[in-house]
Amino acid sequence: MSDTPFRIGLLGHGTVGRAVAELLPARAEAIAAITGLRPEITGVLTTRSGDFDEVVGGADLIVEVMGGLDPARQYVLAAIRAGKHVVTANKQLLSQHGDELWREAREHGVQLRFEAAVAGVVPVIRVLQETLAGAHVERISGIVNGTTNFILSQMAATGASYADALAEAQELGYAETDPTDDVTGRDAAAKMAILARLAFDTPVHIDQVSCEGIEAITPEDLQYAHDLDLGLKLIGTAERVPAGIAVSVHPAFLYSGHPLASVSGPFNAVTIESADITEITLSGPGAGGPQTASAILGDIVSAMIPPASTPEPRESLEVVADIESSFYLHLEVADRPGVLAQVAQLLGLQGASVRSVVQKGLGDNARLVMVVHPLLESRFYAAVELIAGLDFVRSKPRAIRVIEEEYQ
Ligand SMILES: NC(=O)c1ccc[n+]([C@@H]2O[C@H](COP(=O)([O-])OP(=O)(O)OC[C@H]3O[C@@H](n4cnc5c(N)ncnc54)[C@H](OP(=O)(O)O)[C@@H]3O)[C@@H](O)[C@H]2O)c1
Repeated sequence: MSDTPFRIGLLGHGTVGRAVAELLPARAEAIAAITGLRPEITGVLTTRSGDFDEVVGGADLIVEVMGGLDPARQYVLAAIRAGKHVVTANKQLLSQHGDELWREAREHGVQLRFEAAVAGVVPVIRVLQETLAGAHVERISGIVNGTTNFILSQMAATGASYADALAEAQELGYAETDPTDDVTGRDAAAKMAILARLAFDTPVHIDQVSCEGIEAITPEDLQYAHDLDLGLKLIGTAERVPAGIAVSVHPAFLYSGHPLASVSGPFNAVTIESADITEITLSGPGAGGPQTASAILGDIVSAMIPPASTPEPRESLEVVADIESSFYLHLEVADRPGVLAQVAQLLGLQGASVRSVVQKGLGDNARLVMVVHPLLESRFYAAVELIAGLDFVRSKPRAIRVIEEEYQ
């Protein structure tokens, strides 16, 4: 084993930091055989112990696993400016300040690596930056939040309510005590902003990602989806559209042939599409201390074998909010003649045509559930607003996007 040390400073010693501190010594010999350097942790900073300047001063590489924006941003900037490589798992930081940090890293000739920030140990960053560096990516679709995927999987499998499935996720450690970032889609939005930045080589900030969470999903939606042969997932999408790119996170129904349809429980998966490669789907655990630590270790090894950097964006594409989508529409209606015709007419006025319809219940319990073919979201919601005003519609219509593509 090589005697030349490679010194690592850890910022954070929580779930991920502790797992890195455990995994690194166990893999140090194997890493030394590959890189010729012996990695060791030379300093640790927490809220209660350690000194930032000492940790950075005594390190060749900093692992930022504190989370949050401040002081994480200042610490990462200071480490880069001190000529240290940085590995981070912090998606919020990169989705808000990524371009500043990547620019600083380029200017100071150090590496800023972040495989663990998106989809845990699923190597999507490396695939986009390296394997597919020569491909023209058209679209990325992903299940990039394991907490919400677990909740939706449980609701579909057991008929549990959203609240009960969330409580179970918390009991099993798949959801935090405060699950807001996960269930509102903000965690997934941060990851999609990072993926879009890499795939389309254009700056994308989390605030440009249209985002809808899963809090309003009911067991009934899942039951109807089952009847229509659809599965429900929280899907992040980043795609090229005629006016630029569109990046979004929202619940969406998938037909069973879609590569993401079978991804259940706390797993993550990302499908990358390009005419050059047709389609690649990567899947695996999206979180967890040891899994995330393993992705961080991969980044450490990459940083030990130079060089790689995130190039300056070459494009400045428009991020478009109003795009075409197919929709599921759920209406509670009074059961009387002509209801379906009037709904179809209002949809038709906006250019929407109905793909399939399920009608259930009688009298006050009548439900009309339909899937409409793709149209601009603004036009669909304009029709829904008019439908909501019809006198036989008894509660607020519920609309969820449907991903129509079938894959072979
Ligand atoms: N957990 C996962 O499965 C997972 C997966 C992928 C990515 N990530 C990302 O990894 C990062 C860390 O997550 P985690 O779950 O390990 O968090 P965590 O368990 O809450 O640990 C955070 C650590 O950072 C320290 N810290 C926080 N603020 C600090 C400050 N201002 N100064 C110094 N130390 C500070 C804490 O110190 P104390 O020990 O004193 O509290 C703690 O040791 C986050 O960016 C998260 O999004 C986590």
